[in-house]
Amino acid sequence: MSEKLHIIPHDHKIKKADRTKLYKHKPSVIWFTGLSGSGKSTLASALEYRLHEAGLKTYILDGDNIRSGLNKDLTFSDDDRKENIRRISEVAKLFVDAGTIVLTAFISPFKEDRATARNLVEDGEFIEVFVDCPLEVCEQRDVKGLYQKARKGEITKFTGIDSPFEAPDQPEITIPTHQLSLEESVEKLFKFVIEKLL
Ligand code: ADX
Repeated sequence: MSEKLHIIPHDHKIKKADRTKLYKHKPSVIWFTGLSGSGKSTLASALEYRLHEAGLKTYILDGDNIRSGLNKDLTFSDDDRKENIRRISEVAKLFVDAGTIVLTAFISPFKEDRATARNLVEDGEFIEVFVDCPLEVCEQRDVKGLYQKARKGEITKFTGIDSPFEAPDQPEITIPTHQLSLEESVEKLFKFVIEKLL
């Protein structure tokens, strides 16, 4: 971008702190990362249900859904995945500013992009959840039939097959969905996050 844009952000009166006081819980990004079929959306949905039941203000941003609207112009090239996560990170930051708990369920395969998302919000406002499930298990589940298509070459650049996934080194919490039941996974997550949020 060569042209100078004259942008002067407005300082609005109601701040994040005012909303936090009103809602009686901290805002946060709960960032799920993992392979397709690892259980990110299922877990995010079940955790949101528990948080909502407890009276917290929540919203889910989910890969396939966001790629049907806001990000429908993006492919699965490395650059477009990066742009996908950049936009989601900015949207997540807005949700945090709005005082809510935003659960994001995207493969988000690159460490660098997840670090950028983390750095957009304040310390303690980002909970990275590694939904850790081996490729073999995700492929066996093949809930959407996409692994089979990727193996046949009908889909290219599929994460775990011919596109990389960089597992997090130090996520706040890891959920091995091949070892825990959904109920156990949600219980573990709920216990972990609720004490950070209240
Ligand atoms: S990300 O890599 O950019 O973070 P995102 O989470 O938005 O991915 O979308 C992943 C979903 O898109 C998968 O769960 C799957 O349903 C679908 N999908 C379609 N093509 C691909 C592909 N080449 N690689 C991974 N997922 C794909």
